[in-house]
Amino acid sequence: MSFDHRAFRDTLGCFATGVCIASATGADGRPVGLTVNSFTSVSLDPPLVLFCLDNRSESLSAFLEAPGFALSILSAEQQALSNTFARAPHATRWDGVAAVTGQGGAPLIQGALAVLDCTRHAIHEGGDHTILVGRVRGFANQPGAPLLYYRGGYAALNDGRG
Ligand SMILES: Cc1cc2nc3c(=O)[nH]c(=O)nc-3n(C[C@H](O)[C@H](O)[C@H](O)COP(=O)(O)O)c2cc1C
Repeated sequence: MSFDHRAFRDTLGCFATGVCIASATGADGRPVGLTVNSFTSVSLDPPLVLFCLDNRSESLSAFLEAPGFALSILSAEQQALSNTFARAPHATRWDGVAAVTGQGGAPLIQGALAVLDCTRHAIHEGGDHTILVGRVRGFANQPGAPLLYYRGGYAALNDGRG
């Protein structure tokens, strides 16, 4: 029986998510980052989170070499950042982006709804993706509405919160 990849992706897209920028600093000192919605909280004690990185990612080696990574959870006002980190060439992704460096060496994006600063805890094989598990060393959040992703497009909360 053939597997319908398009229908599979469409089905996964029914799970509404937030949107994050996963970031790290490569061994060459340059920041890398990409838009991800595979963020998941894993454990409270110890505090662990994960995201899944496509094995074809140009940033894979930087993430594997770095001592840690960060996840910046985007606010509804940061849709343009999501597009930039999903589409723009690596050389220009960080242009004009205000960030501070966390304990894991990764840039934390200012103005994000929340940030999670991680050191690397584990790396697991996950088919055509690599599962990066981070131990959270620092975190912060601020009021605001989240950027959401649903069925292949951006969405917004309409419950008045934030
Ligand atoms: C909403 C959204 C969610 C995404 N989630 C992921 C993800 O979880 N993992 C991943 O590897 N790519 C994900 N992508 C795709 C990457 O952002 C995109 O392929 C990016 O150009 C990869 O950059 P890189 O070459 O630096 O890895 C997502 C894209 C969008 C728009």
